Amino acid sequence: MSFSKLPLFFLWSSLSTVVLSRASVDKQIKDLITSDSPLLQYPTQFTQDIVPKQIHSHNDYWRDVPLYTALSYGVGSVEADVWLSGSDLLIGHDPESLTADRTFDSLYLQPLLKILSAQNPDTVYTRAAPPRINGIFDTSSGTSLNLLVDVKTDGASTLPAILQALKPLRDAGYLTTYYSNGTLVPSAITVIGTGNTPLDLVKDLDPRDYFFDGPLANLTGYFEPTLSPIASTDYEVAVGWNGIGTIPDDKLAKLKQLVNDAHALGIQARFWDTPGWPVSARNNVWKVLLENGADWLNADDVKAASEF
Ligand SMILES: *[C@@H]1O[C@H](CO)[C@@H](O)[C@H](O)[C@H]1NC(C)=O
Ligand SMILES: *[C@@H]1O[C@H](CO)[C@@H](O)[C@H](O)[C@H]1NC(C)=O
Repeated sequence: MSFSKLPLFFLWSSLSTVVLSRASVDKQIKDLITSDSPLLQYPTQFTQDIVPKQIHSHNDYWRDVPLYTALSYGVGSVEADVWLSGSDLLIGHDPESLTADRTFDSLYLQPLLKILSAQNPDTVYTRAAPPRINGIFDTSSGTSLNLLVDVKTDGASTLPAILQALKPLRDAGYLTTYYSNGTLVPSAITVIGTGNTPLDLVKDLDPRDYFFDGPLANLTGYFEPTLSPIASTDYEVAVGWNGIGTIPDDKLAKLKQLVNDAHALGIQARFWDTPGWPVSARNNVWKVLLENGADWLNADDVKAASEF
């Protein structure tokens, strides 16, 4: 394309005198922005400039704006506590925080569908190209977002409702899926059950697009990445260093062993219940975890974790 075909050029060249001062450039930029021209915004810009990070947004639904806040910091894993009430799946930490409006669908599934539809437009150009699914993050379209579903009500009755709720994402091809012939097809979202998620039912899923948060302290013999792409454990119980001073050798050895056992199986390691305060202790623990191969920082303060 020759430069003269660029509409921006027309706009600029049509100005009688172009004064190249900061103020005039600023004004032209402002005029262009207020023109709302379809040429201006990068079509898949929702997460433009956001670099995904191995941060887990603990109790994500507590934030004033669930999901989006975490995504704005590049958080690669979000957690939703799910309660089955009648046929509804509600989101909250405890029964007192549940409302009829705040559902798994309204807070997580519909926003994800909306973002992914924008990242995967159906146009003559995408139809002509080899089929592929873009993830949430524009800077890293092959990065899958982990959606951790912490099942709060009875696992056997809640899981079928969750699988049903995931149907729109499944039908669009947005869910990482494992087939019993041994093929794992990664996609934009990897759903991982924790809490009361029933292990035996997840293991029986075929195809499987709902995975299981493995027990990091007890993985051997049963778990593999096609069942548990990640595993987690209570840091306080498993390691227990408070982040002040230097980590004792025996606690460091325990931490390394847990991470290395998981990695030997191809499973990622996450520790929850890490100290949140003092901030220096929280940061010391994060540092030791990352230095020793932990794959996910569990964070209540996602902004702090993203800047860490
Ligand atoms: C496994 O099954 C899936 C779904 O039917 C299919 O897309 C894939 O090609 C199969 N892979 C192999 C190696 O047979
Ligand atoms: C570890 O897992 C095995 C089976 O996978 C189970 O029988 C055992 O009770 C578990 N141990 C602990 C400490 O959770």
